[in-house]
Order: sequence, then C-alpha cells, then structure tokens
Amino acid sequence: MADLRVKKVKDFSAELTVPGDKSISHRALLLAALSNGPCEITGFLASEDCLAMMNALTALGVEIESLGSGGTHLRVQGCRGEFQDPGRPIDCGNSATTMRLLCGVLASNPCEVTLTGDESLSKRPMNRVAIPLERMGARIKGHGDRCTPPIRILGREKLKAIHYESPVSSAQVKSAVLLAGLAAEGRTSLSEPQPSRDHTERMLNYLLVKNLREGDTVSIWGGQTPESRDIRIPGDLSSAAFWIVAAAARKGARLMIHQVGLNPTRNGILGVMIRMGAKIIERIDTSGCEPMGSIEVVGNGLTATEIGGAEIATLIDEIPILAVAAALAEGRTVIKDAQSLRVKESDRISTVAENLRRMGVTVDEFADGMEITGGSTLKGAEIPSLGDDRIAMAFAIAGLFAEGETVIKGIECVESSYPGFVRELDQLQAMSR
Ligand code: S3P
Repeated sequence: MADLRVKKVKDFSAELTVPGDKSISHRALLLAALSNGPCEITGFLASEDCLAMMNALTALGVEIESLGSGGTHLRVQGCRGEFQDPGRPIDCGNSATTMRLLCGVLASNPCEVTLTGDESLSKRPMNRVAIPLERMGARIKGHGDRCTPPIRILGREKLKAIHYESPVSSAQVKSAVLLAGLAAEGRTSLSEPQPSRDHTERMLNYLLVKNLREGDTVSIWGGQTPESRDIRIPGDLSSAAFWIVAAAARKGARLMIHQVGLNPTRNGILGVMIRMGAKIIERIDTSGCEPMGSIEVVGNGLTATEIGGAEIATLIDEIPILAVAAALAEGRTVIKDAQSLRVKESDRISTVAENLRRMGVTVDEFADGMEITGGSTLKGAEIPSLGDDRIAMAFAIAGLFAEGETVIKGIECVESSYPGFVRELDQLQAMSR
C-alpha cells in the first residue's frame, strides 16, 4: 500500500486539463460495441475502471484497438451486440458502472456470464439492476437479498418491455434498463425520484437511437441499432472538482481548466461553490454530444451552505470534496438527502466524517448526510483511503490547507478514476510553496 505525503501550500494558481470523463468513457465503449460499425473514440479515460469495461468487452469478443496517445484514442469495431461466450468469469475490478451497465446489455445475451469484482465491489448491491432486468425476462443470481457479486446472468434474446419506477435516482440503474430496452419489443420506460446524469440518453441520441424524456420518465424503443460514429469525450468535471475546491477556498487563487464536461445533470458542484463565495466563469461549447468548455475560478474564501434535494444527484461523486470545502468554510454546512453515499466505493458518509474528525473538524453524522462546522485550522493527520479514490483525493486537497503533514494511506486507488492526480498535485505543490 503506497502513501502520499501532502504539506500546506501558500498559494494555489494553475492552468490545466483533466483526463477524460469516466461515465462518458464507459458509455462510449459500450455503445460503440453495440453499434453497426467502427467508432473512433478520443479523450478516453485510460483508468482502471474504464479498462475493466474494455477488458470485459474484449472478453465478449469486441475488437478494440489503441491508436496511441497513452490509450486515450481507440477504435472500437461495433458488433451490433452479438457477443461471444467469454468462457470464463469477467472481472469488473472496482467498477460498479462496468458491472451494472454490462448487466443491461447481457440481459439479452443468451449464454450465461459470471461477473466478479474486488473486495469493495463484492459488497455493493446489484439488486437495484437485477430487479428490473428480471422483470424484463433475464435471470440474475448473486449473493443474498442485495444480490452482491459475484453474479451470474442468463439473458433472453427477446426481452419484455416494461415501465420501471426506480426507487433510487441512479444513472447506472437507468442506463442498465435503457440498454436492455434496446433488445425489448416496444417501449421500455423508467422514472426516478430525481433526474440522474443523462450521458446514456445523450449518447444514444448522438448515435441516432430514438429515446424520449417526458417529465421524470425516459423511454426507449426496442429493435434499434446505434449508428457507428466517432465520439469525443470531454475532461471529467468530477476530477476537476478537486482543483476547483482548492482554488475556491484560497483568497486570490486563480484556476483555469480547459475542455471539461459541463453537462447540467453533472455540474451541481459549480452552483454550490458559487453559493459558498467562489467566482466562477464558464465558457460552454454545446456543439458536440456533450456540453464542454473551460472554467475559470477566482478564490475568495468560502462560507457555509446547505446541500440537498434534487441537487444531490448532480454532484453525488463530489460530496467528499464538498465536505472538505465545508470544513474550510466559515459556518455550519449541512449535507442531506445523500443516503446513496452509503453504498459507494466505501460508506462515504462515515468515511468522510471520520477523516474530517481526524483533521480536527467537528462533524455530526446523520443517516443521509452530515453537518460540518467549518472555519477552524485543519490539522495534518494520517488518512486511510479505504481503497476509495474520491476519499483519497479529497483528503489530499485537505492536506494542502492543514498545519503539519497529511499522509494518505493507500493512494494507489486514485488510478481507478484519475491517473496523473499525484503528478499534478506534486507539480502544484512545487509551484506554490
Ligand atoms: C455513475 C453513476 C453514479 C456515480 C458513479 C458513476 C454512472 O452512480 O456515483 O460514480 O456512470 O452512471 P449511481 O448511478 O449509483 O448514482
């Protein structure tokens, strides 16, 4: 297990780009594989999670070729979803998106496939996708009521179209149902309590697959094949979030991030940072499959806010770093309606609360969130990452503001979503001392 040592910096100013968006990279691979011909993907995130998806598709017989640029430029030969029997279990590593989205496409695959994961993924609930997919005709068996991995999927070539009222707002559940809906007869639809990220719907549109959003319901019509097209992936706003908070929390800091995704179902962090006092200027280009552009942040110090309701789905992966922002802000910040954080790579409510306390912050934990009393000086501490990438990165940023040294135990987990994070942090620290 590797350690990352972080010390306080005086200033924070930078101009950078971040690696490709993880959610969009997963969908680009999968939808290219379902398409009717070759697709070139640029800006792909060559991280452990997305490589798990790539290895899974290769095991299913999809031809994927790297065209250079460190694995960020790929050519995928679409096979219309006619997969071969992998003949062995497929390892999804740490990636729930790989496992849940694969369940959606394998629901119509007539041979039995086993999906496994690492220790953390093996604790995560797959019943949230198994329930609707079984209603459509697939058979999915995992461990216990929560259907934890390893799971076995036996698909059925012609699935039944359903309407599913999802009890959770989850883009993974929505995407699994929509992908299965491609192989169902007629219209499959899903509604969710609050709209989750819409990358799947946007990419389906871009690949000329008819789908429709009406209020809180999204529908797809079966029997369609995505049209092969080249796909450009923007930088990941969830990775940029770490630098955005670092800049926003320091008076006088300036940060420019280029070519980053600005999808409105994903950009909740920007609104929160503006509420907390940051000055943020966005320049958006909406001409591609996904809105993208540049963000300029001028740091002004932070004040407390309340984060909850429909906003949560738009910033679900940013809550660890927003909790760090709250610790650096004057006043008490409340985060609520975020119970889904308890079933992420770690239980992110208790992991964040415990690690903030290690750094001397007062935190009250609730079932669905926490209250953080900010404004006192952070103390450097030893922080266990628990193998959770966003915990490791959020607390590395906290270390830039803390007295004394902060040691992140188990930093290698950042490879799942942000390869290059440690190099970027080292450079920023070297420039800002
Ligand atoms: C993701 C959806 C979110 C998010 C995850 C990626 C996706 O999970 O937390 O990191 O790519 O669809 P849920 O769908 O469980 O909310």
